[in-house]
Amino acid sequence: MNSRTPLASNPFRPGAGHPPPYLAGREEEKQELSRLLKQSPVLTNLVLTGLRGVGKTVLLETFKPIAIQREWIWAGTDLSESASVGEQALAVRILADLAPLVAPLTVAVEEVPRIGFKSAPLRRGIKLDYGLMKQVYDGTPGLVADKLKAVLELVWASLSPTRCRGVVLAYDEAQNLSDHAPRGQYPLSLLLDVFQSIQRKEIPYLLILAGLPTLFPKLVEARTFAERMFHVTTLGRLSESESQQAILKPIDKQPRPVKFSDVTVREIIKHSGGYPYFIQFLCREMFDSCLQQKARGALNPTATVEQSIRKLDSDFFAGRWNRITDRQRELLDVVAELPDCDVEFTVQAIVAKSRKVQSKPFSPSHVTQLLAKLAESGLVYKNRHGRYSFAVPLLGEFIRRQKGERGA
Ligand SMILES: Nc1ncnc2c1ncn2[C@@H]1O[C@H](COP(=O)(O)OP(=O)(O)O)[C@@H](O)[C@H]1O
Ligand SMILES: [Mg+2]
Repeated sequence: MNSRTPLASNPFRPGAGHPPPYLAGREEEKQELSRLLKQSPVLTNLVLTGLRGVGKTVLLETFKPIAIQREWIWAGTDLSESASVGEQALAVRILADLAPLVAPLTVAVEEVPRIGFKSAPLRRGIKLDYGLMKQVYDGTPGLVADKLKAVLELVWASLSPTRCRGVVLAYDEAQNLSDHAPRGQYPLSLLLDVFQSIQRKEIPYLLILAGLPTLFPKLVEARTFAERMFHVTTLGRLSESESQQAILKPIDKQPRPVKFSDVTVREIIKHSGGYPYFIQFLCREMFDSCLQQKARGALNPTATVEQSIRKLDSDFFAGRWNRITDRQRELLDVVAELPDCDVEFTVQAIVAKSRKVQSKPFSPSHVTQLLAKLAESGLVYKNRHGRYSFAVPLLGEFIRRQKGERGA
């Protein structure tokens, strides 16, 4: 290859919501979406869940054009900020998300008399813009749910004569949505009640909520009928061949490719555990390292996965690890020694292990207390069966690596 060919630029994109250069796998999930879009009436909605970094946000972005192609309208954003606080705020958020998509629709025609003319009055279409939606919302008597329903019904009444098949409302980071009894605010229940009610009337709105594994239990806790209202899709690690494609396809597309050897690819798959964020991270680091070696004239650049893992530990894990107390770290050290810690663990198992490996073992109540603190820090979560899991992928391996380095 000509030495003046520009060097390849790094295609890998580790980062929340950054579209990957190649979206590997997720075929079943896309098929599931297609099935849901075929429903008439809509009986089942979708919860898209999984740990941080498995690819919920980018999959949601991939769903959007699929829905639009099937002539659904797609509205929604992420609920990371204040929209999730109160009922009114959530309702207004939904109006604001819908407004730009339906604003071109005319809902009525008004006649405006022409001053000074004897001719017929001017006919002007009334558009379904935010102002009108808010007017209908404010003018509807009753609770926030009644007002929101009135607007959603009006929106559909205006859309149904068009080719539009329905409206998807998709919200990311939906685990942030919470009912708050002391303040008398129930935005989560509001959302579920409104969707249940309009879907019962066979008005085609489909709700898609993406979020961390705490999301679905939260929905069911708010309204038991949520259990029947949603299909839950849990995103996990990519398979070996999908991981391989995530690594190799972007490199193959490069004009002057940096090559990863078979061994390197296997190592990346092994150390990433097939988790998309880690694949992007390790590939980006290793690609950069090869590029720099090439720039310095190396003919066959090599990069080791070990160096990149060290960087991953300091960039991704260390911040979270350093924020917790010594006693919490000791507890996690014990957890990391449990054989199934990367799946789930129980208080009893931690206590039993602690008795074996520690001179000052933890009591059950102490373990429960520390786990609650760790859940607040976002390192573990309690699943539906009352067991615990790491809220960060591959945390167990990180802890074991740390322990190794401390020489414990
Ligand atoms: N199927 C996939 N194939 C390759 N990379 C992916 C895939 N899904 C996600 N990624 C990458 O993983 C990282 C995390 O994705 P993101 O959607 O932000 O995860 P989440 O929303 O679950 O936290 C991003 O860098 C993204 O580019
Ligand atoms: Mg996300």
